[in-house]
Parts: sequence; structure tokens; C-alpha cells
Amino acid sequence: MEKNSKIYVAGHRGMVGSAIVRELQRKGYNNLVLRTHAELDLTRQADVETFFAQEKPEYVFLAAAKVGGIAANSAELADFMYQNMTLEMNVIHAAWQNGVKKLEFLGSSCIYPRLAPQPMPESCLLTSSLEPTNEAYALAKISGLKYCEYLNRQYGTDYISVMPTNLYGPNDNYHPEHSHVLPAMIRRFHEAKLSGAESVTCWGDGSALREFLYVDDLAELCVFLMNNYSGNETVNAGSGKELTIRELAETVAKVVGYEGKILWDASRPNGTPRKLLDVSKATALGWTYKTELEDGIRLAYEDFLHKL
Ligand SMILES: NC(=O)c1ccc[n+]([C@@H]2O[C@H](COP(=O)([O-])OP(=O)(O)OC[C@H]3O[C@@H](n4cnc5c(N)ncnc54)[C@H](OP(=O)(O)O)[C@@H]3O)[C@@H](O)[C@H]2O)c1
Repeated sequence: MEKNSKIYVAGHRGMVGSAIVRELQRKGYNNLVLRTHAELDLTRQADVETFFAQEKPEYVFLAAAKVGGIAANSAELADFMYQNMTLEMNVIHAAWQNGVKKLEFLGSSCIYPRLAPQPMPESCLLTSSLEPTNEAYALAKISGLKYCEYLNRQYGTDYISVMPTNLYGPNDNYHPEHSHVLPAMIRRFHEAKLSGAESVTCWGDGSALREFLYVDDLAELCVFLMNNYSGNETVNAGSGKELTIRELAETVAKVVGYEGKILWDASRPNGTPRKLLDVSKATALGWTYKTELEDGIRLAYEDFLHKL
């Protein structure tokens, strides 16, 4: 990308899209084209085609998606599949029709099989069944990355995809019921600190192992890949480090300043015992995460407080 290349970031108000915009601006890219969901509903094919025909972006980051935690994913199966598949197909297809030089598609590590080897390499895609609770979302994401691959193979485009692990950071969703584990803990420990609660009870026994990546580190990788990577196989994005949910809770409580007890409700599900991405491909390309978890949680907590 040149500094004045016309770059469209789809989903620029979301956590990932806003981090990509910050990174592009930090690097001096000065010709961004942005549309809110209200201005352009990406599930509407005719509107998407008109937008691309009028604006003619040269590069596209596709970070718009209907996103949610496990509860929303399993309750709204049809909506997750329809909205994600439709918006992906509309954007990727319109990009191809309008000669977009390069497109980068954002997926998620849930595209990999439920019983994938750990850490999960890119090559385990479609080797066995998906996790049923987010199958609809995963199938939509797999379709998006496969459509990029098929356009490359049939028409010689240069469309790539990146699959991040659990992300956190500015503009995360802190909704009491619909958020992911880390932002949910930030909210719960913050509220417990304010109310002087003696204890906070978390789901499961705390033994599940998870990986987290600060969203600005992902954004750095996204811009790096746009400039330095071409290929049909996706690229995993993670820290390569895992910790238990118990250690995560202790770290969040420390950052937030909650001094009460942390209890565990072992009658609630732990989720899959271990979920870690193999990030050797991104590492070999020259990228590695920068933000240690405690530092990142501190930055995320500042953002959370700022938005109260
Ligand atoms: N968050 C994570 O931990 C995580 C982990 C791995 C991968 N990812 C991937 O990263 C991508 C972005 O996730 P995120 O966490 O940044 O989600 P997010 O914060 O919810 O942002 C998604 C953005 O897409 C917009 N959008 C949704 N449907 C749209 C539509 N029909 N037309 C136009 N805009 C639409 C949303 O606008 P509205 O809010 O106005 O609807 C929002 O601004 C997704 O592909 C996700 O799979 C996220």
C-alpha cells in the first residue's frame, strides 16, 4: 500500500476495525474510506455494489461481522450464518468486480475443528467436525476465506485472510450478557469493587487454558500482512502463550483493584480444556505480539472506565 492508497476498512467502529484504523493512521496512511453500519448495511448487495463502484477502494480490510459470545452464537444460529455469509459475499464479490488490488478477510479461530491438535496449525482447517455451539458462525467464516481462495485460484486475485485468537482492548463489548470472557471479567470485577462485594463467582473450575491477544497487536499484523503476505492459506494471529482462566481472573482482579475472594462454580461448564493457536507462520513472516497480558488489560480497563 502507498501512503495515499484508497483503503476501505469495513467495520471501522468495531474493536478490530477501529484498531486497524488507528494502526493505518499511525503509519501515515491518509486516504481511508469509512462507512458506519447505519450508512451502509453490508448485507444489502445493491448498496454494497453502488458503494464500491462509486468509491473504487484499492485495498479492503473486512472487519465487519455479526459477533457474539457463546450464548448469542447458539441462540441466533440462523442470523449468525445469514448476516455473516451475506456481508462477506457482498463485500468480497464487489471488491473483485471493482478491481480491488488486495483484500484482507478477518475470521476467527473457531473455524478450526473442535478436536483440532493443540496448538492449532492453519493446516487443520476442515479436517474434522466443528464445535456445535458456534458452527453457524464458523461455517460463514470458512465460506469467506474459501471465497477469497477460490477468487485467487480462478481469477488470480490477491486476497488473504487472518484468523485471530481471543482479542481484547479498546472498543471491546462489555455487555453484561453478550461479552467474551475477558471483558466480562473486567466489568464484573469493577462492579464488585464498587459495591464492596466479598466475592465474585466465575463459571467452571478455572482450569481451562486460553490465549489472548491485544487488538492493537493484531492490527499491526493485519497491516503488515497486507503489505507483505500473499497466499491461499490463512494466517493465525495469537500470542502463542496460554494461561488458565483462574490466572486470567487473578490478573483482571489485580488490574481492576478488586481485593475480595474469587470463587469457582464447578457445576458450570469449563468449555473446551485448551484452545491455543500455532502462530509459527506469523512468526516466520517476521511478526510477534508486543503487549503482555497485564499491560493490555490495564489499557483495556482504562478504555472501559473512559466509556462509563
Ligand atoms: N472479538 C474477538 O475476540 C475476536 C476474536 C477473533 C476474531 N475476531 C474477528 O474480528 C472481526 C471483527 O470483530 P470485532 O470484535 O471487532 O467485532 P465488533 O466490535 O462487533 O465489530 C464489528 C463491526 O461490524 C459492523 N457490522 C456488523 N454487521 C454489519 C453490517 N451488516 N453492515 C455494516 N457493518 C456491520 C458492526 O457495526 P454495528 O455495531 O453498528 O452493528 C461493528 O462496527 C470479526 O470477523 C471477528 O470474527 C474477533
